[in-house]
Amino acid sequence: MKFTDEIRRRRTFGIISHPDAGKTTLTEKLLLFGGAIQEAGAVKSNKIKKGATSDFMEIERQRGISVATSVLAFEYQGTKINILDTPGHKDFAEDTFRTLTAVDSVIVVIDVAKGVEEQTEKLVSVCRMRNIPMIVFINKLDREGKDAFELLDEIEQKLGLKVVPLSFPIGMGYDFKGIYNIWEKNINLFSGDSRKNIEETIEISDLSSQQLNETIGDSAADTLREELELVEGIYPDFDNQAYKEGKLQPVFFGSALNNFGVRELLDCFIQIAPTPRPKESEERLVEPTEKDFTGFVFKIHANMDPKHRDRLAFIKIVSGTFERNVPYLHTRHKKKFKFSSPNAFFAEKKEIVDISYPGDIVGLHDTGNFKIGDTLTTGELLHYRGIPSFSPEHFRYINNADPMKSKQLAKGIDQLMDEGVAQLFTLELNGRKVIGTVGALQYEVIQYRLEHEYGAKCSYENLNVHKACWVDPRGSDEQEFADFKRVKNKFLATDKRGQLVFLADSSFSLQMTQQKYPTVKFHFTSEFE
Ligand code: G4P
Repeated sequence: MKFTDEIRRRRTFGIISHPDAGKTTLTEKLLLFGGAIQEAGAVKSNKIKKGATSDFMEIERQRGISVATSVLAFEYQGTKINILDTPGHKDFAEDTFRTLTAVDSVIVVIDVAKGVEEQTEKLVSVCRMRNIPMIVFINKLDREGKDAFELLDEIEQKLGLKVVPLSFPIGMGYDFKGIYNIWEKNINLFSGDSRKNIEETIEISDLSSQQLNETIGDSAADTLREELELVEGIYPDFDNQAYKEGKLQPVFFGSALNNFGVRELLDCFIQIAPTPRPKESEERLVEPTEKDFTGFVFKIHANMDPKHRDRLAFIKIVSGTFERNVPYLHTRHKKKFKFSSPNAFFAEKKEIVDISYPGDIVGLHDTGNFKIGDTLTTGELLHYRGIPSFSPEHFRYINNADPMKSKQLAKGIDQLMDEGVAQLFTLELNGRKVIGTVGALQYEVIQYRLEHEYGAKCSYENLNVHKACWVDPRGSDEQEFADFKRVKNKFLATDKRGQLVFLADSSFSLQMTQQKYPTVKFHFTSEFE
């Protein structure tokens, strides 16, 4: 197959949702359609079950599973699909944000009864920032939930999306009869039998036909006609270009658990979803069709086996082909490395591959050379834009609890931060180290891993920080910036990249500081132009 055909047939995407909306179930059903797995229940959820926060065995077990399910690849009707798994647990949201830098599109799963939830809002706002094409899947239609129009409104309001329903439910919960597929103009009747791979599909291209009444009954047929008329009146026509630019989001309805509405989603997805997209680097825009290989690290996974300390770095291929045993330039180290056993990922296993294409993910064994955001190329000195850090929610001082092991502690902290487990800030005033995390669970994970993987012990001390703000001195008044640095010295730190960060202790003090030093710019992510 030609190189450009290989690119054209790839779809690399992520599924995002608030926990429990049905992300794992949907993933599994997609794999079933692809024939990648034989039965439901084969993909274990990598979410850490509620209430098990201090169960480290559970964390470890889950981490093991999440390596296996980091990338789920399968073939469907000539398309190579790569699903990048995103952790559901909110304490691992950073991981999800980073994975979103490696996807070409996403599917957002929303629970019909719960509507738009907190985690959905956060993740969608990141996708919106990056104009990532999104398809919305409204799940659990077999349950009583919100009215479809109300929910579509809520999605537009809370998520700031512009929706276009491409399917529409007929009834809901107990009265759920099926789905009208606006895209294909047919009806799928709901039987509630999840074992069926293909539901009963009835072509209804003319909505005024008597056949509709015979199929779903007079009253349901009338309601459906009215609702579809409304849909047509309210929502714009689907426009593939607008979707690909992130300006318009198609919506599907279904029930992942019952395998219902999933085929429609997948069939439409492979037609409309973008092929691997070009990516901006600091130097220039890189097209996937370029001959030379380029790619970047978006995830690093520690090896679970204590006998093998190496880690797995996940590389998204942006352009060219990645080949086994060919030396590639690590542009941060300015050094060439070659890889004898790059892993490609399939539904439940990983395998050594000789060649991978744009859109694919390869896992490289790493002994500490990679950081999240690193770029590899055939030879060009190119740097993909860094992956942004967001202000953590929790902050604690980290102290060395075993003075004999300070080297191990420093190394452990360093490597865990490279993996992106948490963020490290070093106070300007006294060099003390502060760990910032998205969830409290990370502190336990860090402590546990420092001890078991590096033989170091740490303790924590609370620190009252409301938000970390990255400070941009460019364009600020010189005197004002110097004053700011002097007066706020106690609250200043540097992050791992050496960027200056203001650790505001309350929203009030942040406001006051912004007012007092109006020419100094404060940002809530580490990525700013
Ligand atoms: P997540 O990955 O987004 O966190 O969600 P997951 O797929 O694990 O689904 C969360 C719960 O919702 C699961 O039930 C799952 O069976 C259920 N679910 C998913 N899709 C549907 C659907 O279409 N209809 C209905 N009624 N339920 C659905 P659970 O009881 O928490 O877990 P389990 O014991 O069934 O695995």
